[in-house]
Amino acid sequence: MLEVDQDRARADHPHPQHAFVITLRVNDEDHRLAVDARTTLLDALRDRLHLTGTKKGCGLGQCGACTVLVDGRRVVSCLTLAVMNQGRSITTIEGLGQGGLHPVQQAFIDHDGFQCGYCTPGQIMSAVGLIQEGRTRSDDEIRENMSGNLCRCGAYTNIVDAIKDAIAQGTDPREAMTQAVEAIRQDAEQGGA
Ligand code: FES
Ligand code: FES
Repeated sequence: MLEVDQDRARADHPHPQHAFVITLRVNDEDHRLAVDARTTLLDALRDRLHLTGTKKGCGLGQCGACTVLVDGRRVVSCLTLAVMNQGRSITTIEGLGQGGLHPVQQAFIDHDGFQCGYCTPGQIMSAVGLIQEGRTRSDDEIRENMSGNLCRCGAYTNIVDAIKDAIAQGTDPREAMTQAVEAIRQDAEQGGA
């Protein structure tokens, strides 16, 4: 069985001896699920919650494709276990885009910050986290702090331009995130009405 299939099987059918019932708060919504203790946050997001915007590249913490925000900080979700993230607020690319494109998403479009797009969700989540960290005072600083996100298409120059543009537009990622979360809440309320 391929490694990726083993991960998926483990995520879908936790072994009773290793199963934990947890609640994950993702994009401001609680999800209760039984997971194998060895299931990564990435596999729980993709295979259990079907949030496939977060991509699996290397599965080893080396490419950044799986980057999400946990309590506002950038995390490679392939290197953290789902059970370790109870009680934390997880934001994925799906949460970012609720209620219209996030300014960083728009800047990536405006600057052609992608080609095939596989690395793009991770790049965007990392860029949002980076802007929140405020470590964007020069091109070199942006490059250095985005260096954990690899792009096989080589869109690096445009990615840096997109991040600078988002900053120049006065992007406040926390404000944009708050709006996105509010949009999700309103959708949920309307759906439940
Ligand atoms: Fe997580 Fe590559 S898939 S860093
Ligand atoms: Fe293709 Fe980055 S856009 S890997």
